[in-house]
Amino acid sequence: MIKRKNILKIAIDSPAAAGAGTVAKALSKHYNLFYLDTGKIYRFIAYLKLKFPKHFDQKFIKLKIKSLKVKDLSNKILLSNKIGTEASLISRSKNVRKLVHDFQLNFAYNPPKRYSGSCLDGRDITYKIVPDADVKFYITANLKTRALRRFKELKKLKNKVTYREVVKSIKKRDKSDFNRKISPLKKTKDSLLINTTNLTKRACFLKLKKIIDKKKIINGNL
Ligand code: C5P
Repeated sequence: MIKRKNILKIAIDSPAAAGAGTVAKALSKHYNLFYLDTGKIYRFIAYLKLKFPKHFDQKFIKLKIKSLKVKDLSNKILLSNKIGTEASLISRSKNVRKLVHDFQLNFAYNPPKRYSGSCLDGRDITYKIVPDADVKFYITANLKTRALRRFKELKKLKNKVTYREVVKSIKKRDKSDFNRKISPLKKTKDSLLINTTNLTKRACFLKLKKIIDKKKIINGNL
């Protein structure tokens, strides 16, 4: 695999709806980084399973991943609660994770030349996908705050879902993501813990920016 040298790599892990995606996008814009919300790949596979149940096998997923473009991942259909729950089930499979591994590696280590680096967020980014990232964050928030944020997002998208259903599905996903055998969500020792419960989007961005700028000064060449 080609690895670009002297690029800034940011790795973020977090449970669902903790604010990781929002801050990752803002940081990527600020530092000109290629951004990937890795959860969207699992959501994309979940979508394939629900849409093409008869064709859904290893070969089919492999083919779809091969032709997968970043813009395919921005389809709003992937944001539904149903697809999120299905993604959480699918992501427990070793075979599925194997299929998306290289896509993520290529994204992280070989971003297009016009970008100064990459920023990935997910569940196993800090220790499996980009273990040598320049800066690692573990972003979290309390359950009530996360559920409320996700509920508001889904309402905006006109999803017919109640707050209680969102709480239930986040709890279920947490249980599965933290406890699964393969690539569980965890905070690594070298990740900085950021609790966004009482932070505005702007405050969160500034907090992380301060940490990254400090690292950039220490590592000079980034
Ligand atoms: O981040 P998001 O909530 O969209 O992710 C959907 C699901 O995909 C998660 O609940 C998790 O099970 C799975 N996922 C994963 N590894 C990642 C990113 C997401 O297992 N790196």
